[in-house]
Amino acid sequence: MHPDPAELAVVPVFAALEEADLQRVTRWMEVRRAEPGERLVSEGASGYSFFVLLDGTTKVTRDGVELRTLGPGDFFGELALTGEGRRTATVTATTPVTVAAMFGADFRVLERELPAVADTIRQAAFARAS
Ligand code: CMP
Repeated sequence: MHPDPAELAVVPVFAALEEADLQRVTRWMEVRRAEPGERLVSEGASGYSFFVLLDGTTKVTRDGVELRTLGPGDFFGELALTGEGRRTATVTATTPVTVAAMFGADFRVLERELPAVADTIRQAAFARAS
């Protein structure tokens, strides 16, 4: 199931998009749900998807150390797609969560066709990786 455009409109990274572009982004994304304790991405694994958190919270851990909590409107999974292809951290649901997931091939289209969004994601990626 694709997310509702209204759900993506309140996500900061997509907030400046016009309706037509928002519609396109929804078609690149699939809604997934996870239960508390479920790992959405695992440190060291190959990464093929980018995620936006629509509902609930997750924790980001590296080598067992908690780096951050993410909440609705945050994104994750960009570092493997913009970097070396491996997940740099583990992201685990800490409540029931709903995410919108985008495959890497669609992420490449987004990078090409919505460069302002890609820039915002890259800036966050740079800050997180450093
Ligand atoms: P990726 O490496 O693909 O998978 C793990 C994700 O955790 C990573 O992308 C980022 O989205 C996120 N992440 C890694 N380090 C941090 C950090 N220091 N702060 C917030 N998020 C992070």
